[in-house]
Amino acid sequence: MYGRALHQKAIVMPQTATARAHANLAFVKYWGKADASINLPLNNSISMNLNQATTITTVTFDDRLTADQVVVGDAPASAAFATRVSKHLDRVRDLAGNRSHAHVHTVNTFPAGAGIASSASGLAALSLAASAALGLKLDERELSILARRGSGSACRSIPAGFVEWYAGQANDDSYASSIAAPEHWAICDLAVIISRAAKKIPSSEGHELARGSIFSQVRLDQLPARTEVIRRAILERDFATFGRETEAEALAMHAIAMTSAYTAGNAWHSGVYYWLPETLELLIAVQEWREQGLPVYFTLDAGPTVHLLCPAEAADQVLAAVHATAAERPGRAWEVLRNDPGGPAVLIEP
Ligand code: PMV
Repeated sequence: MYGRALHQKAIVMPQTATARAHANLAFVKYWGKADASINLPLNNSISMNLNQATTITTVTFDDRLTADQVVVGDAPASAAFATRVSKHLDRVRDLAGNRSHAHVHTVNTFPAGAGIASSASGLAALSLAASAALGLKLDERELSILARRGSGSACRSIPAGFVEWYAGQANDDSYASSIAAPEHWAICDLAVIISRAAKKIPSSEGHELARGSIFSQVRLDQLPARTEVIRRAILERDFATFGRETEAEALAMHAIAMTSAYTAGNAWHSGVYYWLPETLELLIAVQEWREQGLPVYFTLDAGPTVHLLCPAEAADQVLAAVHATAAERPGRAWEVLRNDPGGPAVLIEP
Protein backbone atom coordinates (compact mmCIF):
# COMPACT_ATOMS: atom_id res chain seq x y z
CA MET A 1 0.00 0.00 0.00
CA TYR A 2 2.68 2.39 1.06
CA GLY A 3 4.82 1.25 -1.87
CA ARG A 4 2.02 1.83 -4.34
CA ALA A 5 1.38 5.36 -3.09
CA LEU A 6 5.04 6.13 -3.58
CA HIS A 7 4.92 4.69 -7.07
CA GLN A 8 1.86 6.75 -8.00
CA LYS A 9 3.47 9.94 -6.81
CA ALA A 10 6.84 9.22 -8.40
CA ILE A 11 8.09 11.92 -10.71
CA VAL A 12 11.02 11.51 -13.05
CA MET A 13 14.06 12.92 -11.30
CA PRO A 14 15.89 15.71 -13.11
CA GLN A 15 18.96 14.39 -14.92
CA THR A 16 21.98 16.55 -14.31
CA ALA A 17 25.74 16.74 -14.95
CA THR A 18 28.48 19.37 -14.68
CA ALA A 19 31.50 19.60 -16.99
CA ARG A 20 34.62 21.73 -17.22
CA ALA A 21 36.48 22.46 -20.47
CA HIS A 22 39.39 24.73 -21.40
CA ALA A 23 39.57 27.22 -24.24
CA ASN A 24 42.29 26.52 -26.81
CA LEU A 25 44.77 28.50 -28.87
CA ALA A 26 45.49 27.37 -32.44
CA PHE A 27 49.04 27.17 -33.84
CA VAL A 28 47.72 25.98 -37.20
CA LYS A 29 44.48 27.89 -37.66
CA TYR A 30 41.04 26.72 -38.66
CA TRP A 31 40.16 29.34 -41.24
CA GLY A 32 37.60 28.52 -43.90
CA LYS A 33 34.96 25.78 -44.02
CA ALA A 34 34.43 23.01 -46.56
CA ASP A 35 30.84 22.62 -45.31
CA ALA A 36 29.50 25.37 -43.06
CA SER A 37 26.35 23.40 -42.16
CA ILE A 38 28.40 20.90 -40.12
CA ASN A 39 31.56 22.97 -39.45
CA LEU A 40 33.73 20.83 -41.70
CA PRO A 41 37.05 22.70 -42.01
CA LEU A 42 39.20 23.20 -45.10
CA ASN A 43 42.36 22.10 -43.25
CA ASN A 44 43.71 20.20 -40.25
CA SER A 45 44.52 22.46 -37.32
CA ILE A 46 46.71 22.14 -34.21
CA SER A 47 46.14 23.82 -30.83
CA MET A 48 46.96 23.87 -27.14
CA ASN A 49 44.37 23.90 -24.36
CA LEU A 50 44.65 26.94 -22.08
CA ASN A 51 44.73 25.84 -18.45
CA GLN A 52 43.45 29.08 -16.89
CA ALA A 53 40.69 29.76 -19.43
CA THR A 54 37.87 27.51 -18.36
CA THR A 55 34.12 27.15 -18.80
CA ILE A 56 32.09 25.25 -16.19
CA THR A 57 28.62 24.21 -17.32
CA THR A 58 25.81 22.41 -15.51
CA VAL A 59 22.96 20.96 -17.56
CA THR A 60 19.79 19.71 -15.87
CA PHE A 61 17.11 18.08 -18.01
CA ASP A 62 13.75 18.38 -16.32
CA ASP A 63 10.37 17.18 -17.66
CA ARG A 64 8.61 20.00 -15.84
CA LEU A 65 10.30 22.70 -17.95
CA THR A 66 8.38 24.01 -20.95
CA ALA A 67 11.44 25.59 -22.59
CA ASP A 68 15.22 25.57 -22.21
CA GLN A 69 16.59 28.10 -19.72
CA VAL A 70 20.13 29.41 -20.17
CA VAL A 71 21.96 31.41 -17.50
CA VAL A 72 25.46 32.82 -17.94
CA GLY A 73 27.08 33.66 -14.62
CA ASP A 74 24.12 35.13 -12.74
CA ALA A 75 22.18 36.64 -15.65
CA PRO A 76 19.93 35.20 -18.37
CA ALA A 77 21.86 34.57 -21.61
CA SER A 78 21.40 36.82 -24.63
CA ALA A 79 18.74 35.58 -27.04
CA ALA A 80 21.42 34.70 -29.61
CA PHE A 81 23.44 32.59 -27.16
CA ALA A 82 20.32 30.91 -25.74
CA THR A 83 19.25 29.92 -29.26
CA ARG A 84 22.70 28.53 -30.00
CA VAL A 85 22.63 26.48 -26.78
CA SER A 86 19.11 25.16 -27.52
CA LYS A 87 20.16 24.12 -31.03
CA HIS A 88 23.07 22.22 -29.56
CA LEU A 89 20.87 20.61 -26.92
CA ASP A 90 18.63 19.44 -29.79
CA ARG A 91 21.60 17.50 -31.21
CA VAL A 92 22.10 15.82 -27.84
CA ARG A 93 18.36 15.16 -27.42
CA ASP A 94 18.28 13.59 -30.91
CA LEU A 95 21.18 11.28 -29.98
CA ALA A 96 19.48 10.27 -26.73
CA GLY A 97 15.92 10.12 -28.06
CA ASN A 98 14.80 12.43 -25.26
CA ARG A 99 12.71 15.60 -25.69
CA SER A 100 13.04 17.11 -22.17
CA HIS A 101 13.96 20.74 -21.85
CA ALA A 102 16.97 21.72 -19.81
CA HIS A 103 18.23 24.34 -17.42
CA VAL A 104 21.79 25.33 -18.38
CA HIS A 105 24.08 27.30 -16.12
CA THR A 106 27.46 28.28 -17.52
CA VAL A 107 30.31 30.37 -16.19
CA ASN A 108 33.69 31.35 -17.62
CA THR A 109 36.79 31.86 -15.49
CA PHE A 110 38.20 34.33 -18.01
CA PRO A 111 37.00 37.74 -19.21
CA ALA A 112 34.92 38.15 -22.38
CA GLY A 113 36.42 40.09 -25.27
CA ALA A 114 40.00 39.26 -24.26
CA GLY A 115 40.92 37.41 -27.44
CA ILE A 116 40.31 33.98 -25.93
CA ALA A 117 37.20 32.48 -27.49
CA SER A 118 34.69 31.18 -24.95
CA SER A 119 32.75 29.40 -27.71
CA ALA A 120 35.32 26.57 -27.79
CA SER A 121 35.36 25.90 -24.04
CA GLY A 122 31.64 26.65 -23.78
CA LEU A 123 30.44 24.27 -26.48
CA ALA A 124 32.87 21.57 -25.33
CA ALA A 125 31.61 21.78 -21.73
CA LEU A 126 27.99 21.89 -22.91
CA SER A 127 28.50 18.78 -25.10
CA LEU A 128 29.99 16.77 -22.25
CA ALA A 129 27.55 17.92 -19.54
CA ALA A 130 24.42 17.50 -21.71
CA SER A 131 25.37 14.09 -23.07
CA ALA A 132 26.33 12.81 -19.60
CA ALA A 133 23.11 14.18 -18.07
CA LEU A 134 21.08 12.14 -20.57
CA GLY A 135 23.16 9.04 -19.89
CA LEU A 136 24.90 8.94 -23.27
CA LYS A 137 28.29 7.27 -23.04
CA LEU A 138 30.13 9.05 -25.84
CA ASP A 139 33.83 8.32 -26.33
CA GLU A 140 36.31 11.15 -26.88
CA ARG A 141 35.98 11.05 -30.66
CA GLU A 142 32.16 11.12 -30.56
CA LEU A 143 32.23 14.00 -28.08
CA SER A 144 34.69 15.91 -30.24
CA ILE A 145 32.39 15.47 -33.27
CA LEU A 146 29.41 16.65 -31.23
CA ALA A 147 31.29 19.70 -29.92
CA ARG A 148 32.44 20.55 -33.47
CA ARG A 149 28.81 20.85 -34.58
CA GLY A 150 28.30 23.58 -31.95
CA SER A 151 31.48 25.53 -32.76
CA GLY A 152 34.28 24.24 -34.98
CA SER A 153 37.18 24.95 -32.65
CA ALA A 154 35.26 23.43 -29.70
CA CYS A 155 36.19 19.95 -30.98
CA ARG A 156 39.80 20.71 -29.97
CA SER A 157 38.76 21.48 -26.38
CA ILE A 158 37.65 17.88 -25.72
CA PRO A 159 41.05 16.07 -25.75
CA ALA A 160 43.99 17.02 -23.48
CA GLY A 161 47.02 19.23 -24.00
CA PHE A 162 48.36 19.58 -27.54
CA VAL A 163 45.64 18.61 -30.00
CA GLU A 164 45.17 18.04 -33.73
CA TRP A 165 41.82 18.35 -35.47
CA TYR A 166 41.67 16.02 -38.47
CA ALA A 167 39.64 17.89 -41.08
CA GLY A 168 38.09 14.73 -42.51
CA GLN A 169 35.66 14.45 -45.40
CA ALA A 170 32.34 14.04 -43.60
CA ASN A 171 30.69 14.47 -40.21
CA ASP A 172 32.00 11.24 -38.71
CA ASP A 173 35.68 11.64 -39.56
CA SER A 174 36.20 15.29 -38.60
CA TYR A 175 37.35 15.24 -34.98
CA ALA A 176 40.27 16.14 -32.73
CA SER A 177 42.63 14.02 -30.67
CA SER A 178 45.59 14.64 -28.43
CA ILE A 179 49.09 14.56 -29.95
CA ALA A 180 50.83 15.25 -26.61
CA ALA A 181 49.79 15.53 -22.96
CA PRO A 182 49.86 18.95 -21.22
CA GLU A 183 52.95 17.87 -19.24
CA HIS A 184 54.82 17.07 -22.46
CA TRP A 185 56.13 20.61 -22.97
CA ALA A 186 56.35 23.60 -20.63
CA ILE A 187 55.53 26.42 -23.01
CA CYS A 188 53.06 29.19 -22.28
CA ASP A 189 50.79 31.75 -23.89
CA LEU A 190 50.91 35.33 -22.64
CA ALA A 191 47.81 36.95 -24.14
CA VAL A 192 48.30 40.72 -24.39
CA ILE A 193 44.86 42.34 -24.44
CA ILE A 194 44.82 45.43 -26.58
CA SER A 195 41.10 46.11 -26.80
CA ARG A 196 37.95 44.54 -25.42
CA ALA A 197 35.68 46.04 -28.09
CA ALA A 198 33.63 43.50 -30.07
CA LYS A 199 35.06 42.79 -33.52
CA LYS A 200 33.17 44.04 -36.56
CA ILE A 201 33.39 40.76 -38.48
CA PRO A 202 32.73 37.64 -36.36
CA SER A 203 34.87 34.60 -37.14
CA SER A 204 31.85 32.79 -38.66
CA GLU A 205 31.80 35.47 -41.37
CA GLY A 206 35.59 35.47 -41.66
CA HIS A 207 35.47 31.73 -42.45
CA GLU A 208 32.95 32.38 -45.23
CA LEU A 209 34.94 35.24 -46.73
CA ALA A 210 38.27 33.39 -46.65
CA ARG A 211 37.69 31.55 -49.92
CA GLY A 212 37.50 34.91 -51.70
CA SER A 213 41.10 35.78 -50.92
CA ILE A 214 43.68 35.31 -53.67
CA PHE A 215 45.95 33.74 -51.02
CA SER A 216 43.48 31.14 -49.74
CA GLN A 217 44.57 28.33 -52.08
CA VAL A 218 48.25 29.20 -51.66
CA ARG A 219 47.94 28.67 -47.90
CA LEU A 220 45.94 25.47 -48.29
CA ASP A 221 48.56 24.07 -50.69
CA GLN A 222 51.44 24.60 -48.27
CA LEU A 223 49.55 23.79 -45.04
CA PRO A 224 49.99 19.99 -45.00
CA ALA A 225 53.77 20.43 -44.99
CA ARG A 226 53.65 23.22 -42.40
CA THR A 227 51.26 21.27 -40.18
CA GLU A 228 53.64 18.32 -40.28
CA VAL A 229 56.57 20.57 -39.27
CA ILE A 230 54.60 22.12 -36.39
CA ARG A 231 53.39 18.72 -35.16
CA ARG A 232 56.95 17.35 -35.22
CA ALA A 233 58.36 20.49 -33.53
CA ILE A 234 55.85 20.03 -30.69
CA LEU A 235 56.72 16.34 -30.33
CA GLU A 236 60.48 17.13 -30.36
CA ARG A 237 60.10 20.25 -28.19
CA ASP A 238 61.91 22.26 -30.87
CA PHE A 239 60.85 25.76 -29.83
CA ALA A 240 62.58 27.75 -32.61
CA THR A 241 61.00 25.70 -35.43
CA PHE A 242 57.66 25.63 -33.64
CA GLY A 243 57.70 29.41 -33.10
CA ARG A 244 58.82 30.31 -36.61
CA GLU A 245 56.22 28.17 -38.35
CA THR A 246 53.43 29.15 -35.96
CA GLU A 247 54.14 32.85 -36.40
CA ALA A 248 54.29 32.50 -40.20
CA GLU A 249 50.99 30.59 -40.19
CA ALA A 250 49.26 33.30 -38.14
CA LEU A 251 50.40 35.89 -40.66
CA ALA A 252 49.19 33.69 -43.54
CA MET A 253 45.73 33.56 -41.93
CA HIS A 254 45.70 37.32 -41.45
CA ALA A 255 46.96 37.94 -45.00
CA ILE A 256 43.87 36.02 -46.13
CA ALA A 257 41.59 38.03 -43.84
CA MET A 258 43.10 41.30 -45.05
CA THR A 259 42.45 40.28 -48.67
CA SER A 260 38.92 38.91 -48.08
CA ALA A 261 36.76 41.62 -49.60
CA TYR A 262 33.26 42.29 -48.32
CA THR A 263 30.49 44.86 -48.48
CA ALA A 264 29.05 46.49 -45.38
CA GLY A 265 26.57 49.35 -45.25
CA ASN A 266 26.70 49.47 -49.06
CA ALA A 267 30.42 50.23 -48.90
CA TRP A 268 33.04 47.93 -50.38
CA HIS A 269 35.89 46.88 -48.08
CA SER A 270 39.04 45.36 -49.51
CA GLY A 271 39.57 43.11 -46.49
CA VAL A 272 39.06 42.36 -42.81
CA TYR A 273 41.49 43.96 -40.35
CA TYR A 274 41.40 42.19 -37.02
CA TRP A 275 44.47 44.18 -35.94
CA LEU A 276 44.59 47.57 -34.28
CA PRO A 277 47.61 49.89 -34.49
CA GLU A 278 48.85 48.64 -31.10
CA THR A 279 48.70 45.06 -32.39
CA LEU A 280 51.28 45.95 -35.01
CA GLU A 281 53.40 47.84 -32.47
CA LEU A 282 53.60 44.66 -30.43
CA LEU A 283 54.39 42.43 -33.41
CA ILE A 284 57.32 44.70 -34.28
CA ALA A 285 58.42 44.72 -30.63
CA VAL A 286 58.43 40.89 -30.63
CA GLN A 287 60.90 40.92 -33.51
CA GLU A 288 63.12 43.33 -31.57
CA TRP A 289 62.94 41.19 -28.42
CA ARG A 290 64.05 38.20 -30.48
CA GLU A 291 66.99 40.20 -31.82
CA GLN A 292 67.90 40.82 -28.18
CA GLY A 293 67.87 37.07 -27.53
CA LEU A 294 64.40 36.49 -26.03
CA PRO A 295 62.80 33.20 -27.11
CA VAL A 296 59.35 34.55 -28.04
CA TYR A 297 57.03 34.27 -31.06
CA PHE A 298 53.48 35.41 -31.63
CA THR A 299 50.18 34.17 -32.94
CA LEU A 300 46.84 35.98 -33.36
CA ASP A 301 43.25 34.79 -33.67
CA ALA A 302 40.41 36.77 -35.24
CA GLY A 303 40.98 39.81 -33.01
CA PRO A 304 43.61 42.33 -31.89
CA THR A 305 44.95 40.32 -28.91
CA VAL A 306 48.58 39.28 -29.39
CA HIS A 307 49.38 35.81 -28.04
CA LEU A 308 53.05 35.64 -27.06
CA LEU A 309 54.44 32.11 -27.03
CA CYS A 310 57.53 31.33 -24.99
CA PRO A 311 59.15 28.57 -22.93
CA ALA A 312 57.70 28.73 -19.38
CA GLU A 313 61.12 29.59 -17.96
CA ALA A 314 61.25 32.75 -20.12
CA ALA A 315 57.74 33.96 -19.17
CA ASP A 316 58.94 36.49 -16.56
CA GLN A 317 61.42 38.03 -18.99
CA VAL A 318 58.81 38.28 -21.74
CA LEU A 319 56.34 39.82 -19.31
CA ALA A 320 58.98 42.37 -18.29
CA ALA A 321 59.56 43.20 -21.97
CA VAL A 322 55.81 43.77 -22.47
CA HIS A 323 55.66 46.09 -19.46
CA ALA A 324 58.77 47.99 -20.56
CA THR A 325 57.30 48.48 -24.05
CA ALA A 326 53.98 49.63 -22.56
CA ALA A 327 55.81 52.06 -20.24
CA GLU A 328 57.47 53.74 -23.25
CA ARG A 329 54.00 54.56 -24.58
CA PRO A 330 51.96 56.62 -22.12
CA GLY A 331 48.31 55.63 -21.97
CA ARG A 332 48.95 51.98 -22.80
CA ALA A 333 47.54 49.61 -20.19
CA TRP A 334 47.98 46.18 -21.67
CA GLU A 335 46.54 43.46 -19.48
CA VAL A 336 48.29 40.11 -19.83
CA LEU A 337 46.68 36.69 -19.23
CA ARG A 338 49.03 33.74 -18.79
CA ASN A 339 48.03 30.23 -19.79
CA ASP A 340 49.99 26.97 -19.66
CA PRO A 341 48.97 23.74 -21.45
CA GLY A 342 45.60 22.53 -20.15
CA GLY A 343 43.87 19.19 -19.66
CA PRO A 344 40.83 17.61 -21.34
CA ALA A 345 37.14 18.33 -20.87
CA VAL A 346 36.00 16.47 -17.74
CA LEU A 347 32.91 15.83 -15.64
CA ILE A 348 33.13 17.39 -12.19
CA GLU A 349 31.05 17.67 -9.03
CA PRO A 350 28.90 20.81 -9.24
O1 PMV B 1 35.52 27.99 -34.04
P1 PMV B 1 35.36 29.35 -34.61
O2 PMV B 1 34.30 29.41 -35.67
O3 PMV B 1 35.19 30.41 -33.55
O4 PMV B 1 36.71 29.74 -35.40
C1 PMV B 1 37.96 29.92 -34.78
C2 PMV B 1 38.86 30.67 -35.67
C3 PMV B 1 40.23 31.04 -35.11
O5 PMV B 1 40.19 31.21 -33.71
C4 PMV B 1 40.68 32.36 -35.73
C5 PMV B 1 41.28 29.99 -35.46
C6 PMV B 1 41.26 28.72 -34.67
O6 PMV B 1 41.68 27.70 -35.26
O7 PMV B 1 40.88 28.70 -33.48
